[in-house]
Amino acid sequence: RTELRFSSPHPPPLANRLSYPPISQPSARQVPFQQPLPLLTFSYTPAHELEFTDAAMRYYVDPPRGADLENGYNRWVQRVEDKGRIDSLLRAYSKVRKQNEAGMANVDVGVVGWRGVMTKILTAPYEERDGWELNVMLVDGTLYLEEHSSNAQLERMNQMSRHQRRQMYHGYAFESWCTSSSPSSRPGWGGDVNTNVQWCSVVKTKLGDTRIVIGGEVDCVRGNHNGRNDTMVELKTSMNIRGARDEARFEKKLLKFYFQSFLLGVPEIVVGFRTPKGQLTTVQSFQTMQLPRMVRGKPGAWDPQVSLAWGQDFLSWLRRSAQDQAGTSDRDARAQVWRVKFTPQSGVDMVLLDEAGVKEVEAG
Ligand code: A3P
Ligand code: MG
Ligand code: MG
Repeated sequence: RTELRFSSPHPPPLANRLSYPPISQPSARQVPFQQPLPLLTFSYTPAHELEFTDAAMRYYVDPPRGADLENGYNRWVQRVEDKGRIDSLLRAYSKVRKQNEAGMANVDVGVVGWRGVMTKILTAPYEERDGWELNVMLVDGTLYLEEHSSNAQLERMNQMSRHQRRQMYHGYAFESWCTSSSPSSRPGWGGDVNTNVQWCSVVKTKLGDTRIVIGGEVDCVRGNHNGRNDTMVELKTSMNIRGARDEARFEKKLLKFYFQSFLLGVPEIVVGFRTPKGQLTTVQSFQTMQLPRMVRGKPGAWDPQVSLAWGQDFLSWLRRSAQDQAGTSDRDARAQVWRVKFTPQSGVDMVLLDEAGVKEVEAG
C-alpha cells in the first residue's frame, strides 16, 4: 500500500518564494498540453470505499424542464468532508504502474495529483480571493501534490449554514435529474443523493515536457462508456443570468469549469441554470474546447495559455526548490514534506516542514 507519510528529519525550515504571475498581457509562451489519455477508472461505494469497478458510473439523460433542485434534500446522505488526501489516487496509480497501462510501468512521471489541485494551480493567475495550501513530496523524481486543509477549514465545510448547504445541494440534485444508472432509462429523478458515491478517471497527460498523472471525478457519460474520455460529461449548475454583470461573472466562472474538464479530457459541460430557490430554468451544453474562444475579448475574459505557462513555471519552481534542499541533482531518497501556500495577488511560499510542522500535519 502506497502512502504519503509525514515523517521527516529536521533540517531548519527553508523558505522559498515565487511571485504572483502577471496577467495583464497575453502569455508570450505557448506551452503544449497533451490530450489526456485515460488509464483507469474506479468507483467509491455508498460507504465511500474504493473499488476498481465502474459501479458508480452514470449515464446522461436530459433533465425535465423546471425540475426541482430541492427534491430529496432531506434524504441527502452527505459525505463528511475529509482532508482530500492523495491515498486512493496512489492506489490507482500503483495499479496503473503494476499493470503497465499504456506503457506506464517504467516511464518517468513528473507529477501526481488530484484534478482539484491541478485546477487550483492553473487558475491561480486569475484567483483574486481564495488562497490554498498544498503538501508536496518529491520521491524518486516524482512530485506528489496533495491539498492541505486546516481543521478550521474542514469544520467550516462540515458546519456550513443551512442556506449554503441548500445551495450546494442544488448542484447534486441537478446531477440526479441528469443521470441514471442504465443507458436505457427514461428521464427523471436518478435516485437520492449520496455524495459518498463517485466515479473517477485517472489520466496521463503532459504539460510541456512534464508527464503528469491526474485523477478526478467524472459526473456521467453520454451514450456508452468506451474506455475513452470522449463520451464523458461534466455537470454544473449556475444562477440564472439576468444582466451584463451576471454574464461577466459567469464568464469568469467558466475558467474553473474549463480547467476542471480540460485536465481529464472531458469534452462536454452541461450547465443547468437555476433560480436562487433551486428551480431549473434552462440547460445549455458547452464544448470544453470552445470555451476560451467564447470568452475572448469579453469583460470576464481569461486566457488558458497564461494558466499553462504559469503552471509550467510553478511546477519547475517546486521541483527545483525541493531538489536544492535535498542536495541531490535529481533523485531524493528522503521523504520530505513541503507546505506550499498560495496567497492571491501576492505569490506562493514554500516551507520545508520541520518536526513541529510535521506534528501539526499529523494532528491536522
Ligand atoms: P455545481 O456543479 O453546481 O457547482 P462538481 O461540479 O465538481 O461535479 O461538483 C458537484 C457539486 O458539488 C457542485 O455543484 C457543488 O454544489 C458541490 N461542490 C463541489 N466542489 C465544491 C466546493 N469546493 N465547495 C462547495 N461545494 C462544492
Ligand atoms: Mg462531480
Ligand atoms: Mg459537476
